[in-house]
Order: sequence, then C-alpha cells, then structure tokens
Amino acid sequence: MKIIPGSHSLGATVTELDLSQPLTDTDHRLLVEALANRGVLRFPNQTLTARQQFDFSARFGTLEENVAGMFQEPGLPQVMVLSNIVRDGKPIGIADAGQSWHTDMSYSATVAYANVLYAIEIPQRAGRPLGSTQFADMVAAYETLPNEIKRRIAGRTATHDFAKFWDMMRRERGSARPALTDAQRNTKPPVSHPLVLVHPVSGQRALYANPGYAMWIDGMDRSESDELLAFLFQHQTESRFVFTFEWTRGDVLMWDNLRTIHQALADYRADEPRLIKRCQVMADRVLNQGRTDRHALAAV
Ligand code: OGA
Ligand code: MN
Repeated sequence: MKIIPGSHSLGATVTELDLSQPLTDTDHRLLVEALANRGVLRFPNQTLTARQQFDFSARFGTLEENVAGMFQEPGLPQVMVLSNIVRDGKPIGIADAGQSWHTDMSYSATVAYANVLYAIEIPQRAGRPLGSTQFADMVAAYETLPNEIKRRIAGRTATHDFAKFWDMMRRERGSARPALTDAQRNTKPPVSHPLVLVHPVSGQRALYANPGYAMWIDGMDRSESDELLAFLFQHQTESRFVFTFEWTRGDVLMWDNLRTIHQALADYRADEPRLIKRCQVMADRVLNQGRTDRHALAAV
C-alpha cells in the first residue's frame, strides 16, 4: 500500500490496495492515521460489491442505518444509494444528498467518523467530471480563527438538528424529499456537541460546527448566537480551506467527518447519471479507543 499526499492540507491517494480483500491490521492502522492526517483519502480503480464495501467500512466502526430509511441496498440497509437515476419511473437513490455544506450525523448523539463512498457512475461533460464533492478543513479553520472568537467558543456546545438540513432542501431547493414524519423527527431529536473538539486520533483541535445542522450555541443569548454562528459559517467555508474532489468511476473516497465539512456540487442534469454507494461509519469505536463506556467528543 502506498499513501501519496496531495498539495492541499486535505487529500491523499492510496494505491496498491484492493479494498475487496480483507484489510490487514497494519494497513487498517495506517489508514486510520492517514485519514486523521489528510482528512480525505482516495482509493482509485476499485471494484466492489455492496457486501465488500460494507466489510471494508465496518472495520472502522459501527455502520449507520440512515434515519431517512430510504434507498437502501436490498438486505444491507447500511449501504445507501445516492443517485439521480430513475428506472421504470422510480428513483433508485437519493438524488440530492449533501448539496449544501454540512457534517454527516452531527445531529446524532453518536456522531459520524468516516463516510465511505464508491463511485459507480460519474457524470461528465466535454471530458470533465461533474458532481464533484467539496471538503473544508476544520483544523485549519479553527487555527485561523481570531483569538477573540476562540475565547468566545471555548468550552461551548452547539445544538444540531437533522431537520434543519432536510427542511432547508425542501423549502429552498425544491427537493423531491418527502416531509419528515413525526416518527423520523422523534428518532433524531436535537443534540448538543462541543463547538471545538480534540480529534481522537491526531489530537488536533477542530471546529465542530456546520451550516447544515447547527442551530444555536447553547446557553448564549439567541441574537449573539445567531451572529457568532453566521461568522463561523462564513469563516469555515472560505475558499482557502476548500479542497474540491473530482470523481473518477471506480474511486472509493473516505473522509473524516471529525476533521472536515463537505458539500456535493449540483452542476449536472437529470439526464447525466450519477451513481454512488455509501457506508457511514459512526464514531463509536474511534472515540472509545478501547473503552466501551464513552461516546462523547472530547471538548476544548
Ligand atoms: C454524503 C454526501 C456527497 C456527494 O453522502 O453524505 O454528502 O458528493 N455526499 O455525494
Ligand atoms: Mn454528507
């Protein structure tokens, strides 16, 4: 296995590793370190069944069954289908997943560690890939905050809500997503997490807020919280922190949700097919570090 870092603070390419085969303990440990250090890992030229994608992903933690409960692989509900393809009048996947800045599962009591996406079809126009995924580096975003802001967010938590992103997509983007049911809302009630976390692998501090799910800063006057979150949302999405990943069919992309925020670019049409399969790894194992009694993020 070779790990080749790119020129941005995020991103590395991992070659000479066949993800359809069981991962050795050594390679697993090296990938955990590389993911913490580079935030986004690309594994080109892979050929995977849903079961093999599941098995690789499950080495890093428990896999999520998405709360929306839609577009799951038959018999493997932890493998979700992202696609704009319609077959016999029926969509085969969720067509507009992640099309605005967010962190996966920050709305969940046990947050996400790593998302593993496998590209089966990628839209292209004039030889260029479309539907890229952008990442922003939350270690760099934290480091470059003004000291006064670092002081104001130190020791603070923010409340995150699954419905914020879902309802925004319906309201502002004309999404075909159905309204969330009360049962869905009740399975994911709003939760609080530290605004600054200590990364469990690298020990680096990272800003843990995102425009998709963060509602307010707990225990702060609402107008002060709105103003501070607006500042953080603007700061964390500045282009200097952003790494744009252009997909090639056969890529597996794994990203660190504790280190990055991301968004999918909706620059392709309904007749330009995109098909990606997804496994979300929860942060239970990476945060436990061998213990079984602790799931919380270490706060600053
Ligand atoms: C996700 C997501 C982005 C993409 O799967 O959580 O945000 O480019 N996907 O498909
Ligand atoms: Mn996402």
